[in-house]
Amino acid sequence: MTEKFDVKLEGKTFFPDPSLREHMRMGDYELAYNEFLKDPEAYWEKVAEELTWINKWDKICEWDHPHARWFINSKLNITQNCLDRHVQSGKKNKVALIWVGEGGEEKILTYRQLHREVMRFAAGLKSLGVKKGDAVCIYMPLVPEQIIVALACARIGAIHSIVFAGFGTRALNSRIRDSAAKIVVTADATIRRGKRVELKAIVEEAVVNAPSVDKIVVLRRTKPPMELYSEIEVDYYDVLKDVSECEAEVMDAEDPLFILYTSGTTGPAKGIVHTCAGYMVGTYYTTQNVFDLRDNDVFWCTADPGWITGHSYIIYGPLLAGGTILITESTPDYPDPGVWWNIIDDFDVTIFYTAPTAIRMFMRMGEDWPRKYDLSSLRILGSVGETLNPETFEWYYRVIGKERCPILDTWWQTETGMHMITTLAGQPMKPGFVGKPLPGVVADVVDNNGDPVPPGKGGFLVIKEPWPSMMRTVRNNEERYRQYWSTIGKYYTAGDLAVKDDDGYIMILGRSDDVLIVAGHNIGSAEVESALVSNEAVAEAAVIGKPDPLKGEIIKAFIILRKGYSPSDKLRSELIYHVRMSLGPIAMPSEVEFVESLPKTRSGKIMRRVLRAKELGMDPGDVSTLEE
Ligand code: PRX
Repeated sequence: MTEKFDVKLEGKTFFPDPSLREHMRMGDYELAYNEFLKDPEAYWEKVAEELTWINKWDKICEWDHPHARWFINSKLNITQNCLDRHVQSGKKNKVALIWVGEGGEEKILTYRQLHREVMRFAAGLKSLGVKKGDAVCIYMPLVPEQIIVALACARIGAIHSIVFAGFGTRALNSRIRDSAAKIVVTADATIRRGKRVELKAIVEEAVVNAPSVDKIVVLRRTKPPMELYSEIEVDYYDVLKDVSECEAEVMDAEDPLFILYTSGTTGPAKGIVHTCAGYMVGTYYTTQNVFDLRDNDVFWCTADPGWITGHSYIIYGPLLAGGTILITESTPDYPDPGVWWNIIDDFDVTIFYTAPTAIRMFMRMGEDWPRKYDLSSLRILGSVGETLNPETFEWYYRVIGKERCPILDTWWQTETGMHMITTLAGQPMKPGFVGKPLPGVVADVVDNNGDPVPPGKGGFLVIKEPWPSMMRTVRNNEERYRQYWSTIGKYYTAGDLAVKDDDGYIMILGRSDDVLIVAGHNIGSAEVESALVSNEAVAEAAVIGKPDPLKGEIIKAFIILRKGYSPSDKLRSELIYHVRMSLGPIAMPSEVEFVESLPKTRSGKIMRRVLRAKELGMDPGDVSTLEE
C-alpha cells in the first residue's frame, strides 16, 4: 500500500447555466447534504416513502460493523415497484423499453406488456421448479428477454446471477458453480458486427462439472431454429406460461436480490450479494436525483446488464422511476461510427450514459460523425467506469453536449450498488474530478491509518458510513467481505487511490491493487494469470496493465514456459486465444513476452509492481522484499 503523496492539481472549471440548478430535482447540493447530515435515517426514510411496500420497516438501519441491515423487517417486491406501481398509476401504455437491433430492427414494450412478459416467464420458472432463494444464471445477449428474465427471477424471489455474454467457458463455469445456479437461461447466439457469436455452445461446455444445473432455457432467436439436443435443454417460448397474473413473492428487506461477480486482486471473481430493499432505495434515489429522470425522458445507458451499471441503470433504477429505457445490441462503430448518434436522433434520447473508452473511440473517428445527426434532444450526459480525462471530457461536452448538457462523471462500484460520488447537474464541473459525495454518502480520502489527508495529497478512497445499497457479503467468502471493512481502520476501502482539492472535489487516480481496468471493465490480474497457467505450455505467468490511449489500460502477460516448449509467434497467438476462450475477449492480453524469470518476494509472490515499473521505465519503489 502507498502512503500519502503529492498530486499536482490544476485545470479548468466549467460553470453551467445557473438556471439549470433550479430545474433539477436536487437543486441545492449543500442544502440536501446538510439535511442528510442532520438526520441520516430520516433522509433515507423520506426516499423510501416514495416507493410501494407490502409492510413498512420497524427501523431504518442497524449497523453492526461490518454488517448493515436496512429497512428492517419491511416486506416488498422490487418488481411491484418497477412494474405494477406504474401499470396501476396511469402509465400502462407508457413505453418502458425500446430495443434496437444491429440491423436497425426495433421492439417496443409498454409497461403493460413488460409486466405481462415478466409474469409469464416468472410463472414458467416456477413450473421448472424454481423457488424463492434458488439461483438462476442469465447468460444472454442484450435483448429485451435478458431484462424480462432478470425481473421474472425477482418476481418469484429467485436470485439472479447475470453473466456478461462476452465471458468465456471458464469464467461462466466458475460463476455457475459458485452461485449453485439451478437454471441457466441463454440464447442461441448474439449478433456482433453482422456475425453470429454462439452462446449456447459455450453454455454446453460451461455446465460440465456444474451439478447444480437442472435445466438450460434457450431463447432461439435466429433462423433456422437451432436444435435442442439434450433433455435438460428447453425452449424459452415453451417455458412462458399463458398467465395474466403471477403474484409477486413477498420478500424480506434483507433477502438477496442478485449476485454479480466482479474481479478481485486474488483468486476467482467475487460474488457480490445485493439485497432487496436497500438496493431498491439506492438505485431509485440516484436515478431520480443524479439523472433527474423525468416522465418524458428517453434514458439510454450503453452498458450491458451483465455489469453493475446495467443492473442499476438499465434495469432497476430507471424502471423504479417509471422511465423509458433504450437498449441496443449494436456496437458503436458498426456498420459505421454514426449508429449511436443516429439512435439518439431517431428516438430523441434525452439522457445518455456511457464509458470514457467509448467516447475516446468516437473522438478518434472524428467530429463529422456526430455532426451528421440532430443531438438536440440530449439534456444530460453521464460517464462511468474509469477516469474521464479532461480532453475526453471537453470533447464530450463540446461535440455531443454542445456546451449545453451537464456531464456527470459518476464514481461507484459493483459493491456500492449505486452512484456514490459525482457532480450533480447544475454544479460547477471540473474535468478530471468526479465531484463530491452524494447526499447520503460519507466519503473521504485518507492515509494508511484512516486519517484524512489534506487537499492535494493522494490517499485511499474510503466510505465511512453504511449506505442502503451496499453489498451485504461476498458469496461463499465472508472473510473477503470483512476485508473491505477492515483494511483501513473500520472504513469501507474501495481499492481506489484518490485526491481532493480545496473545494472537496475528488479525483480518482487509479486502483491501489492489481485490478486492471480495460475499456472500463474490471479484470483481475490473478484471473488472467490462472487462465494462462491452465495452458499446458505455461509454467508461470504474471500480468500487468499498461496505459493505452483508447482502452485506458491493456493487458501485458509475462510467461515462463514449461520445459519442452520454446517461444514463438505461434505459441504467443495460441496463448492469447486460450485466454479468449476461457475468460472472453475482454480479458485477452494485447502483449505476451516470454521470460526466464519473474520478480518475486521471498515468500514467492510475484511482484507485479516491479514488472510494471520496469515496463514503463518508472521507479519500482521499495524493493526490499524482492528475492533477487
Ligand atoms: O476504479 C474505479 C473504477 O471502476 C471501479 C469499479 O468497477 P466496477 O465494480 O466494475 O464498476 C464499474 C461501474 C460502476 C472503481 O473502483 N471507476 C468507476 N467509476 C469511475 C472509476 N474510475 C474513475 N472514474 C469513474 N467515474
